[in-house]
Amino acid sequence: MFGFMNSLKLFLLLFLIIPLIARIKGQTYSCSPTTYAQNSTFQTNVHLLLSSLSSNASQSDGGFYNSTIFGQENNSNATVYGLFQCLGDATVQTCQKCVSDGIEDIIQRCPNNTGAIGWYDKCWLRYSGDEYFFSKMQEQPQLILVITRNATNTASFMKLLGETLKVVAKEASQGGSKKFATKKENYSSFETLYTMAQCTPDISETSCLNCLGNSIGNLPNCCNGNVGGVTLKPSCYLRYETYAFYQEQPPPPAAPPPNPSPESTSKDKSRISAGIIIAIAIPTVIFILLVSLCFLCLKRRASKHTPVPKQTGSALVDISSVESLQFDLNTIKSATNDFSADNKLGQGGFGEVYKGILPGGQELAVKRLSSTSNQGVGEFKNEVLTMAKLQHRNLVRLLGFCLDEGEKILIYEYLPNKSLDNFLFGMENRAKLSWLTRYKIIEGIARGMLYLHEDSRLKIIHRDLKASNILLDEDLNPKISDFGMAKIFGVNQTQANTSRVVGTFGYMAPEYVIHGHISIKSDIYSFGVLILEIICGKKKYIFLCIKLC
Ligand SMILES: *[C@@H]1O[C@H](CO)[C@@H](O)[C@H](O)[C@H]1NC(C)=O
Ligand SMILES: *[C@@H]1O[C@H](CO)[C@@H](O)[C@H](O)[C@H]1NC(C)=O
Ligand SMILES: *[C@@H]1O[C@H](CO)[C@@H](O)[C@H](O)[C@H]1NC(C)=O
Ligand SMILES: *[C@@H]1O[C@H](CO)[C@@H](O)[C@H](O)[C@H]1NC(C)=O
Ligand SMILES: *[C@@H]1O[C@H](CO)[C@@H](O)[C@H](O)[C@H]1NC(C)=O
Ligand SMILES: *[C@@H]1O[C@H](CO)[C@@H](O)[C@H](O)[C@H]1NC(C)=O
Ligand SMILES: *[C@@H]1O[C@H](CO)[C@@H](O)[C@H](O)[C@H]1NC(C)=O
Ligand SMILES: *[C@@H]1O[C@H](CO)[C@@H](O)[C@H](O)[C@H]1NC(C)=O
Repeated sequence: MFGFMNSLKLFLLLFLIIPLIARIKGQTYSCSPTTYAQNSTFQTNVHLLLSSLSSNASQSDGGFYNSTIFGQENNSNATVYGLFQCLGDATVQTCQKCVSDGIEDIIQRCPNNTGAIGWYDKCWLRYSGDEYFFSKMQEQPQLILVITRNATNTASFMKLLGETLKVVAKEASQGGSKKFATKKENYSSFETLYTMAQCTPDISETSCLNCLGNSIGNLPNCCNGNVGGVTLKPSCYLRYETYAFYQEQPPPPAAPPPNPSPESTSKDKSRISAGIIIAIAIPTVIFILLVSLCFLCLKRRASKHTPVPKQTGSALVDISSVESLQFDLNTIKSATNDFSADNKLGQGGFGEVYKGILPGGQELAVKRLSSTSNQGVGEFKNEVLTMAKLQHRNLVRLLGFCLDEGEKILIYEYLPNKSLDNFLFGMENRAKLSWLTRYKIIEGIARGMLYLHEDSRLKIIHRDLKASNILLDEDLNPKISDFGMAKIFGVNQTQANTSRVVGTFGYMAPEYVIHGHISIKSDIYSFGVLILEIICGKKKYIFLCIKLC
């Protein structure tokens, strides 16, 4: 139930997530506790070493370079070891710049420490007196930085993350002279997981795998659910984000593979199997919706040429496309106290609306369509299908539906402020609507309508725009609701005719009432009526209102 809820939320929140890109920030250096004396041989050697690193950054092979400055013969303690490692995606220029900037930074941060390590955007560097650390796998000091924002579906995100990182760690460790790998996976149709792993090339394949493996194993402790994290160790680097934080490599020039060893085949196999697992892990919601969209397109195209009278066939397609939004009736019953009168919020177009609370505390608006009205079935499917494809902050969010035991139930986000007509025409709330608020409400409705008419993937005529169908959230932002009568147009279609005129009198355009013509203009007419109501605070009496204003 909650896994499903989460993947649903994921789907509905996709558009919100993309712009929220946070950057990893924090302290990314560590100084050793011991210090050296001013003007000592040691100090001279540290500076010699750092300048040796800097001057070699432009010619280093594979972005790695190590260096040793030996102490004077009788002062072996003044020997200094150092290295830098540029990230695998850095160009020679960025590597050079990163190393020289990094050296300046580390001298400031650790002015007279006998050892230090600093991690930077495209490189890390390290020096140490007396401690020989080349070719040794070292995991301390370790720094972990995370983006504290959580993925929408923590469990499935962590699963995909774990699988992807295992693959990327293996690839990096097998990298030979450049132990570096990146990998991206689709987390959903709009979100991509980007991962990067790297070891210094002076450690063995096994050590590299161990170092990265320990970092991966620690993720549930440090970074559970977080959408970004980086684990920094002297010997290895592991990072993941939901945006492209690295330069994607052009595909390497195709070289004929030397006789494949058994090892490389097993590597390929593991890649394939990981791919399959990930493909399954991608939320099925997206897949089913895409397939059903294609179906609908084909169906619509086909129906242009040959009339397709089959109702049952299309109904099957309709429901399967939104199956993953389905709620269990028992869940809904317990959430609404078995549709108790206390939970009733109001009477909608085709049935009652109840407030529900899921065991997790999430509040819902549950629209229970009256089971007697035959007419409701079509509207029901229409509403589910339409809403499932829409996402805008001025449209009420559909969380799911329930089709069980003859019940037809729609589940929406719960908006505590109910509908606009309560505010416009209810005495106690009226005072809360300042002119600025009214203006913002009109603007919000206009945005929502623009989305419906022009900006969404479909062209939708709402057909029943009125004050009671505009819900307000806690900040009095308007959200258009009730899509039971919405009509979906082809992209280039501008008008349709209907013999069955539905809607609310007073809001309906004359050409629609008289001739049944439906177009964007019919919604605009209703919107005009709505604007007058919002300004005047009077119901439907347009002419009276104009006189009054
Ligand atoms: C270090 O040497 C500089 C000049 O080379 C001098 O000014 C400074 O006083 C010396 N510091 C110590 C602690 O000896
Ligand atoms: C750069 O590295 C080379 C060896 O690769 C070394 O001989 C040279 O001294 C280094 N440059 C400096 C300025 O230390
Ligand atoms: C670099 O490290 C290797 C061990 O990985 C060591 O044998 C070599 O001497 C080092 N080079 C320098 C210039 O310190
Ligand atoms: C270093 O020590 C040796 C004896 O171990 C001595 O002969 C030499 O003079 C010393 N060198 C310096 C510069 O102190
Ligand atoms: C080297 O350092 C150790 C402690 O780190 C010290 O006991 C020893 O005397 C030092 N040796 C020299 C030659 O400075
Ligand atoms: C160097 O270390 C000493 C402690 O040993 C400290 O008092 C001093 O401020 C340090 N020098 C700088 C420039 O930070
Ligand atoms: C990820 O999605 C893009 C388009 O959305 C597609 O081209 C690509 O093949 C997908 N990658 C994987 C690994 O599924
Ligand atoms: C993120 O998810 C973890 C694990 O599910 C949870 O413990 C933590 O409180 C969540 N953090 C935020 C900011 O939601």
